[in-house]
Amino acid sequence: MMRGARIARRGLSRLAAAVETATVPRMPAFDHVPLPYDGPSAAEIARKRAEFLSPSLFHFYSNPLNIVEGKMQYLYDEHGRRYLDAFAGIATVGCGHCHPDVVDAITVQARRLQHSTVLYLNHAIGDFAEALAAKMPGDLKVVFFTNSGTEANELAIMMARLYTGSHDIISLRNSYHGNAAGTMGATAQKNWKFSVVQSGVHHAVNPDPYRGAFGSDADKYVRDVHEVIEFGTTGQVAGFISEAIQGVGGIVEMTPGYLPLAYERVRKAGGLCIADEVQVGFARVGSHFWGFETHGVVPDIVTMAKVHYIYVSLATFFFLLRPARAVDQAIF
Ligand SMILES: Cc1ncc(COP(=O)(O)O)c(C=O)c1O
Repeated sequence: MMRGARIARRGLSRLAAAVETATVPRMPAFDHVPLPYDGPSAAEIARKRAEFLSPSLFHFYSNPLNIVEGKMQYLYDEHGRRYLDAFAGIATVGCGHCHPDVVDAITVQARRLQHSTVLYLNHAIGDFAEALAAKMPGDLKVVFFTNSGTEANELAIMMARLYTGSHDIISLRNSYHGNAAGTMGATAQKNWKFSVVQSGVHHAVNPDPYRGAFGSDADKYVRDVHEVIEFGTTGQVAGFISEAIQGVGGIVEMTPGYLPLAYERVRKAGGLCIADEVQVGFARVGSHFWGFETHGVVPDIVTMAKVHYIYVSLATFFFLLRPARAVDQAIF
């Protein structure tokens, strides 16, 4: 190579390094050395995904990261490069990646007993239910474990229908509650809907204080709930479902004062109030353990998922409801 070209190339790479150090903030020191990675390359993984997985599984980037290890707030790619995880697996990894206490709890349990069934006794499910119930206000003291947030919401909606004898559910526009037969109806974002029957869900105007039609006027938004009940239903509804902060919808807060009024109106129509805590529960709002507590309400059913907590080493998804004999009878 000509000497001039070599010097120019050296200059360019120095410039690139300078740009990189100028634009990429230096990570704070962290006492963890990722294990050497000898798995397949990102390209090989992408090829296999394309060949064997549904094309509906998309990623957000033209060159997605190959994440091979996690430690607390950090993730590592196949080259050992460290990234700050500001996403926490869609708000799932509540106390960091591979927290040693969580890993220990899983390991101890997996060594002792990997699977059983509720047909036999084992203390863990009752202990966990008791611990969860202790975190709940009012008479929210009965837990039902399911396999995902979607499943918890499916069951909550079905139980509200069976308990009230009504069919109509009120949900909010821009909400996300899951992607199965019933929950897709409650979800109100076109990205997550398909052209299949989604019966009996009405979407009230979203009380978004920033972009919402009525700014932060709680009364006007509740007036819409009233009108949905008056003009879209028999006047009796099965329930109302909402997130305290919409997660998939873009971290959208709710107009203050809305939820107590909406709950009041829905209960007047015979409905149960369901709080979807899948993204906001477990202290993720900071000030309170549950998102609904920030609005001063007590729901009738609380659904939750996406938690990796020390207590929750194996069973992670569940929902809670007030004791309701009629519901028990209807289901079992
Ligand atoms: C608020 C909310 N509810 C329900 C769900 C569905 O939970 P899962 O993905 O565990 O089925 C999600 C998932 O993102 C969610 O954000």
